[in-house]
Amino acid sequence: KRIVVLISGSGSNLQAILDQTLDGQIRGNVAAVISNRPDAYGLTRAEQAGVDARLLDHKQFADRESFDAALVELIDSYQPDLVVLAGFMRILTPELVRHYHGRLFNIHPSLLPKYKGLHTHQRALEAGDEEHGCTVHFVTEELDGGPLVIQARTNIVPGEDIQNLQQRVHQLEHKIYPLAVQWFCNDRLKLGESGVQLDHECL
Ligand code: GRF
Repeated sequence: KRIVVLISGSGSNLQAILDQTLDGQIRGNVAAVISNRPDAYGLTRAEQAGVDARLLDHKQFADRESFDAALVELIDSYQPDLVVLAGFMRILTPELVRHYHGRLFNIHPSLLPKYKGLHTHQRALEAGDEEHGCTVHFVTEELDGGPLVIQARTNIVPGEDIQNLQQRVHQLEHKIYPLAVQWFCNDRLKLGESGVQLDHECL
């Protein structure tokens, strides 16, 4: 399977996925990494792994529609089976989301449907939650609202600060994101008419 990964920053989730494509746990390869920010360290990670690292700077475009149209064209030039959002800090147009229906993943740092949007760790702490975590989901037109693929949860340690919690959740992201990509690439997971269909052997 061919995978295209979209990033805006450090790309530690990208790295976790790259590692598993290189060691064969994911039956597929990352065909390209695309960033909307020139300074994204994930571009360097891609180069170091011998993967096409492409910059598409949203500031060069007049509006969201024209940026997303160029983005679709660039992504499609790699003919991907799966498109992975890994810290891609852009809201996507409905056209783009529909175009990749059933083959577009996102990871979100909360136990969805709780805490869609930003500042998830702060919100979980302020709410006095006992647990927190992260979620991989298929992307649909509703922001952070698509069908869930896998979640990882952890107890909140009484008194811990945002950085600590964020770091611990980040570690969990690195476990579940490659796993979801593995399932998809090994044809064990798909988005059907009635929702996510997961091979029972995955559970
Ligand atoms: C992750 O926390 C992800 O959940 C969020 O953006 C962050 C990306 O981190 N949406 P990295 O670039 O993969 O290190």
